[in-house]
Amino acid sequence: MSEHPTAPEAHEDAAMPPEGRRRLEQFEEGITLDRFITETAQAHPENKGKFSALLRQISLASRLVSARVNRAGLLGMFGDTGDVNVQGEFVQKLDEYANNAFKRALDHAGCVCAIASEEDEGPYYVPERFHSGRYVFCMDPLDGSSNIDVNATIGTIFAVYRRQSPEGTPASIDDILRPGTEIVAAGYVVYGSGTMMVLSTGEGVNGFTLDPSVGEFFLSHPDIRLKPECKLYSVNEGYASSWTPAFRGWIEGVKAPGQGWSQRYIGSLVADFHRNLLKGGIFLYPPTKKNPEGKLRLLYEALPLAFLAEQAGGAATNGHQRILELCPDALHARTGLIIGNSGPVEEVTALLRAELRS
Ligand code: AHG
Ligand code: MN
Ligand code: MN
Repeated sequence: MSEHPTAPEAHEDAAMPPEGRRRLEQFEEGITLDRFITETAQAHPENKGKFSALLRQISLASRLVSARVNRAGLLGMFGDTGDVNVQGEFVQKLDEYANNAFKRALDHAGCVCAIASEEDEGPYYVPERFHSGRYVFCMDPLDGSSNIDVNATIGTIFAVYRRQSPEGTPASIDDILRPGTEIVAAGYVVYGSGTMMVLSTGEGVNGFTLDPSVGEFFLSHPDIRLKPECKLYSVNEGYASSWTPAFRGWIEGVKAPGQGWSQRYIGSLVADFHRNLLKGGIFLYPPTKKNPEGKLRLLYEALPLAFLAEQAGGAATNGHQRILELCPDALHARTGLIIGNSGPVEEVTALLRAELRS
């Protein structure tokens, strides 16, 4: 190995696979998130620019959080605030920062009437001094908090609903607790080796990578699709003693010699889901003895990711029902989650349904 590795030869560029070349051209074309928002808005004039304003404010908050996450270690932003949130978890400094960044970016923009957050006990209704807009914003401002101090990938997860009550009037909890089938947009932002927003407004899934040198997201992963099958599973094997026989049987089945499956589990739902969305994989978090309802939250973790999974051709259930058909009965309602490529999701769900009937 020479001590001075040479730059890739010109001919190596020519060998770039078509997909990589397409993405490079896409990047060079400079399709920004802003242009994507404008083009989406042109197709939906009925939204009167309010939806575009919402997406632009989500982009702003994402860039603020990305900058803070990337310098957290230097700014004393690791660790917790000493407070305990409604989940009974210590609030991490970055949880609090991300929560405030999204609320501050959204509450005055005239497009949102209420914000439901994992970090807040009740909904944040847009104050009287601002216009109570037409959308409801549900978020996990920072998912994967246990990974903050070790610089593992974390992220923000969000879902957008159109309100039920008239625009301009005070919103209520009935605007927020809606079935997932009414979601109008959902996405997440992963703060990892790079920052990427993955977004769907109901017409497929697109990924935008942040170029921090210009502070703009660029379309880098157009039309993300999940194949029907995969050979990767993500589960916390530490809870194996909680699993039902049918669930354990499926896991043992894919681990059997010759099956060719691999296992990846980061412990940040958003990061595990992102890897599985791009490379294929099924993420499984069934109810456990510690969390008999399931650990993950329906409103701002399972529902938005289920929307994205289905928009990409995948599937998501709670082990028995389609996640998007569920309607939270409380802001922080929890659920089991099985999400990813449709083949394995449907296979595991059929086994668990049969087990429930037996
Ligand atoms: P949050 O950091 O928002 O509380 O979410 C943590 C969740 C999710 O991100 C992850 O998949 C799961 O907790 C990991 O749970 P275990 O550590 O029990 O595997
Ligand atoms: Mn979370
Ligand atoms: Mn969180």
